[in-house]
Amino acid sequence: MKPYLIAPSILSANFTKLGEEVDNVLNAGADVVHFDVMDNHYVPNLTIGPLVCKALRKHGVTADIDVHLMVQPVDDMIKQFADAGASYISFHPEASQHVDRSLQLIIDSGCQPGLVFNPATPLQHLDHVMHKLHHILLMSVNPGFGGQSFIPQSLDKLKQVRALIDQSGFDIRLEIDGGVKVDNIRAIAEAGADMFVAGSAIFGQTDYQAVISQMRSELALAN
Ligand code: DX5
Ligand code: ZN
Repeated sequence: MKPYLIAPSILSANFTKLGEEVDNVLNAGADVVHFDVMDNHYVPNLTIGPLVCKALRKHGVTADIDVHLMVQPVDDMIKQFADAGASYISFHPEASQHVDRSLQLIIDSGCQPGLVFNPATPLQHLDHVMHKLHHILLMSVNPGFGGQSFIPQSLDKLKQVRALIDQSGFDIRLEIDGGVKVDNIRAIAEAGADMFVAGSAIFGQTDYQAVISQMRSELALAN
């Protein structure tokens, strides 16, 4: 199993001082910056684009930026985010006309590709592309908003994906996104996740370091 990564979702950060928020959460011990891109088409909300990713790089952020594309169409955004300094780029397979092509575009642009599955999206899209994936992102809420509750059935789906990854022999991260908190992160890790997105749980508190270290203490208990 890979070392656990904690990826705060900046969707719940204070956007009036985003650079400072990202610095603070990284200084508080976060590993990766989770960057939610919503287009008011694939999901009913509108957030941030490549300009903001580029601005964070210009501000001095050197940590990996994990771009989660909730957009349709997908492909134009890949190149733009790669140019803007993205490290990982994931998309929802049902939002792409040609999943293999979109994955290859991410690889060719020098980023690490991932596929995202909504709570009710079946896993068949994995069948022929496991060899191309750097990460698989399971949504444990329906995409579009921060602050929703973790859907408990996601634990079974995590176990299923963990088994698929292990059987495949490929070195693929298993990321979970939605409703992750201090009190459920251990169970989520035990179901097979090794990368944890948390928005409101972290940015909703004043002491980011305290939440992240509580999360790490819970993760240390996972088996
Ligand atoms: C939802 C986003 C999530 C969201 C998570 O569509 O993909 O990354 O910000 O927020 P919390 O942790 O508050 O559920
Ligand atoms: Zn996300």
